[in-house]
Amino acid sequence: MSKLDLEENEATMSSLKPEKVAEMYDATGELGLYLIFDNQLHFGYWDKNNPNASLSEAADRLTQIMIDKSEIRPGERFCDLGCGVGIPAIQIAKAKECFVDGITISKYQYDRARELAEEAAMSDRVRFIQSNALAIPCDDATYDGGWFLETIYHMGHREALREASRILKPGATLLIADFITGPNTAEEFKTFAKEQLHSDHLPKEDYPGLLDEAGFDLIEIDDVTESMMPFMVPKVKAGFKQYETEILQYVQREAIDGWLQVFESVCENLGYILVKAKKRVRS
Ligand SMILES: C[S@@+](CC[C@H](N)C(=O)[O-])C[C@H]1O[C@@H](n2cnc3c(N)ncnc32)[C@H](O)[C@@H]1O
Repeated sequence: MSKLDLEENEATMSSLKPEKVAEMYDATGELGLYLIFDNQLHFGYWDKNNPNASLSEAADRLTQIMIDKSEIRPGERFCDLGCGVGIPAIQIAKAKECFVDGITISKYQYDRARELAEEAAMSDRVRFIQSNALAIPCDDATYDGGWFLETIYHMGHREALREASRILKPGATLLIADFITGPNTAEEFKTFAKEQLHSDHLPKEDYPGLLDEAGFDLIEIDDVTESMMPFMVPKVKAGFKQYETEILQYVQREAIDGWLQVFESVCENLGYILVKAKKRVRS
């Protein structure tokens, strides 16, 4: 590799550190979030069909929307790239009768995901791997489908899409649920997100080029900001209130206030999209 190639490579490499992400999800302070989200660690989706849904019901709805978009068939192999404690992986395995490998960088999540799969009697079809999703221990073209369900912003979009392209079979569907920047995104928030939340966010306009470069054909981008962001803060407040006694066993009240501020600034600064793409058959 020439010096120029090396410099270009370094310039496009993400500055996100997987070990910092792992530390964040392993931290005890996160336990409150596992409780209020009922183990689905992503934002909720509300519309006229579920206007009064709780946070965990709306998070479940988002998983269902993603499952409905997936084209995975019975017996095929699906990869959950950033699986949390494994509830979405278990749900898609049940709904689609497929085999799922869930990848997480967090030891806490890996252990808990295995327990939850055992409790759901799904360990024969859902397997978990504690690994960096940028270097998955599997052969090229192993999977028939996959998703990044609110995870790619921790990994670096370019690198994560490159690895997804490596592990997916030609023609496989890739789904992505991701936060996006927009006109309301403050520079100060972007710095905070990078330094404190180990997250890097992009505008939706970057997606077609990134997908193309990684060898995917874009099928659709749904901007679902209005069904998600305006609802989150009141629902998170209600969730913290409901589980206050339990959460205060693990963390101080200031930690709850801190997390509420995080949700407020995420909702003020970011939008949300659902992306569907297919691994190109010939690149
Ligand atoms: C917001 S949580 C979403 C979890 C899950 N998709 C869900 O919806 O419940 C982000 C997830 O991404 C995972 N993650 C982030 N960076 C990762 C990396 N480099 N390799 C593997 N997993 C990663 C975290 O471990 C965590 O499970």
